[in-house]
Amino acid sequence: MRKIFMTALILVLALSSCAFADGVKIGSCIYRFSDAFMLRFRNAMSAESAKEGAELVLADSQNDQTIQDGQVEEFIANGVNVLIINPVDRMATQNIIDKAKAAGIPVVFINREPPADILSTYDKAYYIGAKPEESGTIQGELLAEYLKSHTEHDKNKDKKLQFVMLMGENGHQDMILRSEYSVKALKDAGIEPVQIVGAIANWDKLQAMNMMNAFIMSIGPENIEAVIANNDEMALGAVEALKANDYNKGNPEMYIPVVGVDANASALEAMDRGEMLGTVLNDADGQGSAAVKLAVMLAEGKDVSKEVTDGKYIWIPYQKVTRGEKK
Ligand code: GAL
Ligand code: CA
Repeated sequence: MRKIFMTALILVLALSSCAFADGVKIGSCIYRFSDAFMLRFRNAMSAESAKEGAELVLADSQNDQTIQDGQVEEFIANGVNVLIINPVDRMATQNIIDKAKAAGIPVVFINREPPADILSTYDKAYYIGAKPEESGTIQGELLAEYLKSHTEHDKNKDKKLQFVMLMGENGHQDMILRSEYSVKALKDAGIEPVQIVGAIANWDKLQAMNMMNAFIMSIGPENIEAVIANNDEMALGAVEALKANDYNKGNPEMYIPVVGVDANASALEAMDRGEMLGTVLNDADGQGSAAVKLAVMLAEGKDVSKEVTDGKYIWIPYQKVTRGEKK
């Protein structure tokens, strides 16, 4: 009798620990659901969670750090095993780390990189992303390549490139470094870039469109030789404004090269129509699946030291995308 009881008990224990293994519960906050690139990212995370048999609960932080902090608290109270956080304000991540640490829950940050001195305060805090320098460099290179064989874009024949820069959010690592490295790559390719105007459009198509419209009015499209945007949505906003002024509609005399970053479907389509010059693939699938895989390993208490560099990071590379190489 006692033996049967013991066997049954062992069986129950074995079953429950097995149920835990594929029942990892992930709580994830996304800075803003309406962000086009983060939609691709979310879809990738959902697909990977389904594959891993993990439960993924996603929350829209609505671009508000206070809302996100509340969501983190709620996830912890509801007993999630691990957090995947796309911070609203990457500089305000200490609070999230402190809460996760107090609860003993690992936290994987994505897309918005917390400063190293904040990340280092918790041994179970990680970051998965892509190096912004890389995307800026590729963007500058693809624009330079095009301009070398299209010298007619030096409209005022001063051997310099008069360009408009549309930037993402202030303080975002991708805004700072993409802006810097795209210009650097142009210089390295022997082009002298001159920024006529630069504006923050918060990754947003409509904001970028309105700004570009204003620039076209004040500067005149004949005085703009290129548009560099920190992401595709803003590049597409610029394209809309140009099209409204009969630019980038097929007449080679009235074309201003526009470059973005992300390789969202709508940008690839605009490239196929000849409205936009190029973009850089921001690998949402690679980053999303890596985030979920790492989160599951952490929740299961596995050793992740071989998965990460410098104890904390997973870097997913960017790739150049120009017309005709639709991905
Ligand atoms: C960037 C991406 C932008 C925007 C931003 C949000 O990596 O290129 O389109 O999604 O992240 O943090
Ligand atoms: Ca010029």
